[in-house]
Parts: sequence; C-alpha cells; structure tokens
Amino acid sequence: MSTDPGGRARLRTRVVHHSPAAPASEPVSTALYQSATFRLQDAATGGRYAETVQPTAFYTRWGNPTTEVWEKAVADAEGGERALAFASGMAAISTSLLACLEPGDHVVAADSLYAATIELLNRDLRALGVEVDFVDPRDPDAFARATRPRTRLYYVETPDNPKLVLTDIAAVAAAARARGILLFADNTFASPINQNPLALGADLVLHSATKYLSGHSDVVAGVAVGGQELIERIWRKQKVLGGCLDPFAAWLLLRGMKTLAVRVERHNENALAVARFLAAHPAVERVHYPGLPEHPQHALAARQMRGFGGMVGCELRGGRQAGLRLVESTRLMVLAVSLGGVETLIEHAASMTHGPLSDEELARAGVAPGLVRISVGIEDADDLTADLAQALARCR
Ligand SMILES: Cc1ncc(COP(=O)(O)O)c(C=O)c1O
Repeated sequence: MSTDPGGRARLRTRVVHHSPAAPASEPVSTALYQSATFRLQDAATGGRYAETVQPTAFYTRWGNPTTEVWEKAVADAEGGERALAFASGMAAISTSLLACLEPGDHVVAADSLYAATIELLNRDLRALGVEVDFVDPRDPDAFARATRPRTRLYYVETPDNPKLVLTDIAAVAAAARARGILLFADNTFASPINQNPLALGADLVLHSATKYLSGHSDVVAGVAVGGQELIERIWRKQKVLGGCLDPFAAWLLLRGMKTLAVRVERHNENALAVARFLAAHPAVERVHYPGLPEHPQHALAARQMRGFGGMVGCELRGGRQAGLRLVESTRLMVLAVSLGGVETLIEHAASMTHGPLSDEELARAGVAPGLVRISVGIEDADDLTADLAQALARCR
C-alpha cells in the first residue's frame, strides 16, 4: 500500500480501505453482508472454496453468509435438509428443472400452473428436447398413466395458480417413488405455514419467495428446498446459470420470515371471510377456495393442509366483462399482479398473470375467461367485504 510521509496510506487509498466492524456484542438483527466477494487467507483457500458447495466466504454467486441464514430458516420451515436461494421464483424453477433433465427426458406436469412455468415447460424445455405431458392433477392416477420409460420428473403446484386446484401430494409422491421419478411441488400459494410437501413425499419444494415468504411486495426472490444431494446438484447449475439472490433481498426476507406465521394465520382467516361473502353474493357464479366445505377438494385440503391460504378465485355471472369490471371497481383492493403481500391485490387472470399463454394453453389450463383472483391481505376483513360489495354493485 502506498504511504504518505507519516507512514499512513494516502487519502485516495484510505477512502477505499476501512477497518472491519467489530461489534462489542451480537446484534439482534442478522448482519447484512452486502459483499460480492470475501478476503481469502491464501490462494489455496480460494482454490478450495471454488470446489466447495455453497461456501459463504468466497464469492456471493457461490454463497453468502446473510443468504445462508435465510436458506436455513426456509429449510427448517419446510422440513428439508437444505435450501438454495434464487433471484426469483422462476430462477428457482428453471434452474431446478435444468439441473435434473436432459434432452430425451420426459416430464409429467399438472395442466394448470403459473403461466411462466407452463411457458417454460411447454416451450423452452421442449425446444431443448425435453418431452412434456400435461395431466389433470385432480386425478392422481393420471401421472402414472402418462409415465413413459424416460419420465424423470412429475411437476405439481398445489393449490395452483390461479384456480386453486389441489394435487394429492402423498398419492402422486407414492406413484413417483414406486417408479424412481422425482416429484417437484411449487408450494408458493400454501406457504410452509399451511403445507409441507416434503413431509408428504415430494423431493423438492419450490417457492416464489416474492409472495408469502417476503410478505411485503418489495422483494423478488425464489427458493428450492430438498435433500442434500439434490440441492447440491441444483446449486452446481445455479453457479453457472447465475440466478443467485442478492444479500439485501435475503436480509429483507429474513425480516419477513419473523412474521410469516402471524401473517399467514390472518391471510387464512380473511380469505375464508372473503370466500364466504362471495359465495353468498347473487352476482357471483362460482367461488374457488379450498377452505369452503362445498369446494370439490375440501376433504383433500383438510387432509394435507393446516390452513387453506389467502388466495380466492371467483367467476361472476356476467363472465369476462363483469370480471374485468370488478377488478377495476375495487377501491381498497389494489389492481396488480403478484400475491402474498400484506395488502389485498385483485387481478383478472386470463388477461394479466395468464395473459402470455396462447388460447390453447389457456384452454388446457382451464382458466375461465371471467376468473378474478384475489390475494387477500391482512386488513380488517369487514373493510375487504365492504369494498367487494360496492365493487360488485357496479358490475350489474
Ligand atoms: C405459483 C407461482 N410459482 C412461481 C412464480 C414465479 O415467481 P417469481 O415471479 O418470483 O419469479 C409465481 C409468480 O407469480 C407463482 O405464482
């Protein structure tokens, strides 16, 4: 280091180098290591880290100490050995699929999934030579029937986006295990508070952590949780594809994690109140909420979920036009895509979240033209139903 006559580094140098923080006591909030890279003791240590899985003192695309704290918290919440954080839910999904599939392999996927997951399976993976069949997840035997010699993976999302259709995770997991096939389950809608797919036999749980895990609509993130070996395989793919999480986002996610349980309990209560209100309203033709006793899969929901979640779907008697009018008529509920935040969001599925799908893909996913999706927040439930009442009155 260059020095001034007094032996100190010169000003231009001193502004660049600082002493590391040495708190006298452990901070209550997790320390944020917003650092791309870490000082190495010697070159050999660097070489060793380069070969290590998820090291936290090498380079943040490999691993980061703040991110690791969040990964451990999510692994614990999902009952998995290990978790891997990603820059978005789609980064988690695409990287995990690419880590486990080769050209010529075959996937059996549920026919109604988040739109970008359908696009990825039906277009991008097909272009790479992966065969995909879509089946109705309400029939767990459909996965076994569609299985071929090169089937490597079953893919489900339960409850699904946007119809709230459930998959019997234990039944599909049993079919997968009997055939040596991996089962991936997107648990975004349920959150680990309401459902743990690994305990029901899934091999990998995926989340858009943008949603309930964050809870405040201010972070885009994803995570995969599973056994050590599978996560190591996915980590190797992430390391080269590069969809790692930024440490500041991990720090915000850690804050969200502290209130996950209380938030989800309120989401569950409010969504049930909203679903009951909609079911009793004369302008509403159908309500999709697995917590309602009349939901066709209520018994399955009660068996595999601890709570029924904050997402509600509804179709109005006036079809598409009435649905569009409803989402533009609420005053409290915000017209926006995404979900799982503390504020209630409302959207029209066919034109917004599922807008990128072709007519054929939309028809196969069974997204009704008038389907409205509500991500019920943690506000006072009476204010939410009052807002819906005034908005529905304007849809007549
Ligand atoms: C069920 C589900 N999975 C995955 C995703 C993708 O997550 P992200 O937007 O964080 O990439 C979404 C996004 O809405 C989703 O709803």
